[in-house]
Amino acid sequence: MTDGTFPDRDRIDGRDKVRGVTAYAADVTLPELLHAMTVPATIAKGRVVAMATDAAMAVPGVVRVLTAGDFPAPPAAGGPPPPPTLNGTVAYRGEPVALVVAETLEAAIEGARLVRPDYEAEEFVVTIDGPGVVREPGQDTVAGDAEAALAGAATTITASYETPIQHHNPIELLSTTAIWSGGRLTIYEGSQSSDNLRNDIAAALGLDRAIVEVKSPSVGGSFGQKVGAQRHSPLVARAAILTGRPVKLVVPRGQVFHTAFFRPVSRHTIRLGANDAGRMFAARYEVEHLQSRTGRFDTGGYHHSPSRLYGIENYLGTGADYRVDTQAPGAMRGPHEHPACFAFESTVDELAYALGQDPVAFRRANDTAVDPIAGQPLSSRFLNECLAQGAERFGWSRRTPAPGSMAEPDGTQVGWGVASGAHPTLVTAAIATLRVGADGRTRFATSGHEMGQGMRTAIAAVLLRELDIDEAGLEIAIGDTSAAPQQVTAGGWGTASTVPVTLKAAESLRDRMTELLAGRTVAGNLHEQLAAIGSPSLSVEVSQVGPGQGADTLEELRAGGFTLVGPEYPEFTTMSYIAHFVEVRIEPRTRRIRVPRVVSVVDCGRVVSPRTAASQVRGGVVWGIGAALREETEVDPRFGGFLNADLADYVVPVNADVAEIDVRFIDQPDPLVNTIGAKTLGILSIVGVSAAIANAVYHATGKRLRKLPIRIDDLL
Ligand code: MOS
Repeated sequence: MTDGTFPDRDRIDGRDKVRGVTAYAADVTLPELLHAMTVPATIAKGRVVAMATDAAMAVPGVVRVLTAGDFPAPPAAGGPPPPPTLNGTVAYRGEPVALVVAETLEAAIEGARLVRPDYEAEEFVVTIDGPGVVREPGQDTVAGDAEAALAGAATTITASYETPIQHHNPIELLSTTAIWSGGRLTIYEGSQSSDNLRNDIAAALGLDRAIVEVKSPSVGGSFGQKVGAQRHSPLVARAAILTGRPVKLVVPRGQVFHTAFFRPVSRHTIRLGANDAGRMFAARYEVEHLQSRTGRFDTGGYHHSPSRLYGIENYLGTGADYRVDTQAPGAMRGPHEHPACFAFESTVDELAYALGQDPVAFRRANDTAVDPIAGQPLSSRFLNECLAQGAERFGWSRRTPAPGSMAEPDGTQVGWGVASGAHPTLVTAAIATLRVGADGRTRFATSGHEMGQGMRTAIAAVLLRELDIDEAGLEIAIGDTSAAPQQVTAGGWGTASTVPVTLKAAESLRDRMTELLAGRTVAGNLHEQLAAIGSPSLSVEVSQVGPGQGADTLEELRAGGFTLVGPEYPEFTTMSYIAHFVEVRIEPRTRRIRVPRVVSVVDCGRVVSPRTAASQVRGGVVWGIGAALREETEVDPRFGGFLNADLADYVVPVNADVAEIDVRFIDQPDPLVNTIGAKTLGILSIVGVSAAIANAVYHATGKRLRKLPIRIDDLL
């Protein structure tokens, strides 16, 4: 048998992807297909009082213009409101007010341009400091007595930080293709939560979810953006129902900025205290962020990681929303953890300097085995190993501590910075069916989505380790509500949730095979063995719930519910950890900041797919460089909406901005969270990168920059 580690394998879908064979949602081609285009609101708030559609309908090829009158009224009362369709109101600039459907994409675009809504505009506000915006406090996160402890601290640091609005821009644009046929609705849409999307579309249109299927087998990047229905999804579904023909909408990039989830501006004020032994034992952390009128992206999440990075026993975390007229902010890679660890790990660095301690040694001296919030042990924690290995690989011992002390003779300032990151490990329930055939085929269907992170490769790693089957005949059906109930795949919990059920299915199939063979010894792989004994196939169905979850969780999963649990489980808490080491070089004249090398060492429990895991971390580091040095969405306070809503003006890192990224894994299985010992990964990878960069900039220049993104102007 094996030692439990997994070998490095190619991406199982890599060959198809580079050959363009992999079909993404918008690649679906259908006879009689109609094309749709949305009409975005040109006011920031108000009502549509009239809608002239004659000019649009006169465009050759335009089939129909959907407006508010084409949608069922939402139910009068009871339960949460369904996702919006078209109802004649405008809640934010860019919100769709009509949908044009045409024989060609060109006609749909031309038609959408010619729809002329008349609006009754209302007063609006879009900035966190705008007139009349009020503070709405959220729930506190509490351990011990932070105020009393801070009053008695030997050393304290108090500082405020700010992170900007940012938008995710996966390569795959948002799209929906809807087919209404035989009283059933089939949706092709890139989604990380196809059952959730199914529920949302059914609720928005007043349909029974049983007649809706969603197919999202491969997603071209998601990162939290593709959770639930998009603003346009039910509109396209309705168009298919009304026209009786398949309808496709691919949302232009500029509209993605105005309707999809985004990272809201956030402000953090932290007071961090150490006792006279240099132990961080008290923190008060106040955070506030931009929120939409009805948004639910909470502030409690900002405290999940800082409160558990060092086991600070006296912790008070507060949060507050500032509601404005925008689309809802939401999950975006490290939604809370990236801004929180930027702020918190900058403060930790400041405290290390105030105490005259090395930033790595200071962090290592503040290790913990306990989650102070839940008051229970951590199931596994290898942050100190990450810090030690990272320091070794980076060559940290050659660092001279004084800011500015490592400058080159030509005036280039060099800085070395470190930061830790943490992320809760959450898991969801999963159901799987596995069928191995005498014909050489294997079909595995389960809950989970392939968004490029390597879900299929991780599943294959387990199946091919546990079963003697033919890789070429392996089909992995995920992201499809007709294959298995589809849990939301997000928050880095995909592998940790899907791989245990995969292991269980493989073990169950091996057991069934042993029964079937009844003591006979048959040569060959499983397919050949089945053929030899005259069995066409062997199938098993298994399910898996998270720690502390019961059978009711599976029922919830079958109904398309949200079955997430963690990071606090009965009797233990599970977190993933990462340590980033960054070198920055700042050019003497232009003051441009370069990041020539990064070392990231990760404790994500057992690594199931080394190839794609490392790729996730490199992606997270690149995004961290973008978040720290490039990305900011500019709000238009005069008219609402966002000004730099394209990839020319929303600046992300390009190849020239990215150099060496050295990724290592501790690869120690968590003993409790699941049978494989895998913890959260993907989302963890960005967490702490921006703090490591800011800390390196401080080391290079002596300037402590507390607002992202850090720009050339900050260093002039
Ligand atoms: Mo996650 S916010 O789905 O990267």
